[in-house]
Amino acid sequence: MSDLQGKHLVLGLTGGIACYKAAELCRAFVKEGATVQVVMTEAAERFITPVTMQALSGRPVYTSQWDARESNGMPHINLSREADAIVIAPCSADFMARLVQGRADELLSLLCLARPIDRVPLLLAPAMNREMWAHPATQRNMAQLVQDGTTILGVGSGFQACGETGDGRMLGPHELLEDIVASMQPKLLRGRRVLVTAGPTFEAIDPVRGITNHSSGKMGFAVARAAREAGADVVLVAGPVALATPRGVRRIDVQSAREMLDAVQAEAMQADVFVATAAVADWRPASFSADKIKKAEGAAPPALAFVENPDILQAVAQGERARAGRLFCVGFAAESGDLLANAQAKRARKGVPLLVGNIGPAAFGQDHNEVLLVDAQGTWQLPRASKRALARTLVAEIAGRLTNP
Ligand code: CTP
Repeated sequence: MSDLQGKHLVLGLTGGIACYKAAELCRAFVKEGATVQVVMTEAAERFITPVTMQALSGRPVYTSQWDARESNGMPHINLSREADAIVIAPCSADFMARLVQGRADELLSLLCLARPIDRVPLLLAPAMNREMWAHPATQRNMAQLVQDGTTILGVGSGFQACGETGDGRMLGPHELLEDIVASMQPKLLRGRRVLVTAGPTFEAIDPVRGITNHSSGKMGFAVARAAREAGADVVLVAGPVALATPRGVRRIDVQSAREMLDAVQAEAMQADVFVATAAVADWRPASFSADKIKKAEGAAPPALAFVENPDILQAVAQGERARAGRLFCVGFAAESGDLLANAQAKRARKGVPLLVGNIGPAAFGQDHNEVLLVDAQGTWQLPRASKRALARTLVAEIAGRLTNP
């Protein structure tokens, strides 16, 4: 899936060393399916050439309001009306001050002022020295810009090109991409708190061994990301997986089913939605050996006995909050066959209003999946799609089923 398919973006560059990151951002936009029109200030041209940005965007760059290529002589009108969004990355402290004042003496600030404010969002990726960032003038300007309907994409923290360390670095291209894509999603879960479990659990046998399963966590991470994109406050309780935390999501790492249960029960008290995508181990070894179990010459292999793990979804779905209708629970079913019957039976057994069924072995570790939705009204097969697209569909399905605000 291409997250920016069919979108036309104006990417504005202002003066700052972070211009080098704008090259990669431009490439990331194009890779996601967007068309990109780059506009650069004179200061930006000191840091990176228009030739580089032209090559990456596949379009000649605009640098002047007097550009004669536009037949009506009004690049500020044409460029701002073609755009689905205007992204200024890097956005210097000076450029913010100019936006606050509504200055219009060069093309980029001019087109920002001329943009149809209700239809074309303006997103800024600030980049500056930490003292400039912390200065009351910059903070005041940002507050004013937010009040004027501008989106500020935040900054990173760390080592800066000037040699100092602190806040004010431009976010990385992929962080910006994630935030910009998120800004375009409908805010179906604004004000809601969503709790998600993801990944496998690991049930230890001894300090070096344990049992787990093939769950990659991708579906749960995609659900957490989609819920965040939809405006929710998201907590993600993750078993051992090698995945990056979606931006803006609070992550709690756990190992065993019992640790996952503890984390979930603490968080579920505040949640409005619980989505259980984790492939929780059904059983754990009956005993844990504090010392590594050693192999002895001629001795029989150790006999493992198991005890059942708590059912996290069932415990939450039967809890007070869910029964009072204040927590909407969604289960997943990983089956190896007979999906429809198994998913329907599982929905009833777990006592959840909505269950998402999939064929586990076909989905584990993959980026795509095919799922079946089961609720009290019936069943719906969703066409095969990326886990990210399925997660967004699922979020919309959940949002449509929530009642009280
Ligand atoms: N689940 C859970 N805690 C468990 C087992 C499962 O929270 N101990 C949740 C999963 O996160 C999923 C749903 O219950 O949302 C169904 O999980 P699945 O493994 O498909 O079903 P099981 O309950 O394990 O049933 P079975 O092994 O019979 O298929």
